[in-house]
Amino acid sequence: MSVFTILFVSDLCGKAGRQAAAHMIKPLREKYKVDYVICNVENAAGGFGVTPEMSRKAFSYGIDMQTSGNHIWDRYDIVHHLKTNPKLLRPANYPNGVPGFGYYIDEIDDVKIATINLMGRTYMKDIDCPFITADRIISHVSQETNLIFIDMHAEATSEKQAMLYYLDGDVSAIVGTHTHIQTADEYVTPNGTAYITDVGMTGPYDSIIGMEKEPSLQRFITGMPKRFTTATDDVRLAGVVIQIDRENGNAISIERIMYNFDIDTFKPEDITGIKKEENETEIVPGEEEQGSQDTTEEEQGSPDVTEEE
Ligand SMILES: [Fe+2]
Ligand SMILES: [Fe+2]
Repeated sequence: MSVFTILFVSDLCGKAGRQAAAHMIKPLREKYKVDYVICNVENAAGGFGVTPEMSRKAFSYGIDMQTSGNHIWDRYDIVHHLKTNPKLLRPANYPNGVPGFGYYIDEIDDVKIATINLMGRTYMKDIDCPFITADRIISHVSQETNLIFIDMHAEATSEKQAMLYYLDGDVSAIVGTHTHIQTADEYVTPNGTAYITDVGMTGPYDSIIGMEKEPSLQRFITGMPKRFTTATDDVRLAGVVIQIDRENGNAISIERIMYNFDIDTFKPEDITGIKKEENETEIVPGEEEQGSQDTTEEEQGSPDVTEEE
């Protein structure tokens, strides 16, 4: 059996999340013999959206494909970028005419892989039906490939499970994102679809889903809007490694992963177990030090963003 291995990393949150991705994804590719990396970047810019520059730079971390969710619109300049960059997806079930792409068929080592980004509607914006949208896209992409990966960005556990039972056996994997809390329910169905309700967050865990705790707490207590800032401590990378049979697109296995990250002490061999010579160590420009390059402004959530994540 010939295996195609996907690493999915979720959801990059703020500078800490970007730094973890910048340093850890390449060693993870090596450790798990990964063919393709998909990453949800909707919170990469200070927890709120992603800038075109951040998205471009993220590909240099070893990411092949980027997905997003409700926060994709938080940075105004991303709208134009989405129109011409189909490897940064926005959820496919936004109404007709909304800029950007909701799915993409990529080709790597003569294997075609389709990535589809969907968004739930329960406790979220009431956009087009993700189930009917999935049907429409799958009927199209399945003419080209049976390796089909879905990022189901949704709040409700039930809606993500419903999507699994709706598409069971029709796709290789359905992974949930958006809650930033990793669930322990990963499995492969007898029909060959890998599933997890939520992959979690790559970012600071000493936080309330990535944000400094005090403003978030005060918002719950007072009901008043608060300015959110991404937290900085207890950084971890959350992901899943999914093995797929290249011949029929059926998932073989899904493994949930979570790695601690400390920028001051991290070494690639912590992950790979293979010590490299000093001059072989790869440094990703722009994410090597805390406090470098990015402005603090980018790290602060817009005060008029009412939807906390
Ligand atoms: Fe998120
Ligand atoms: Fe989200």
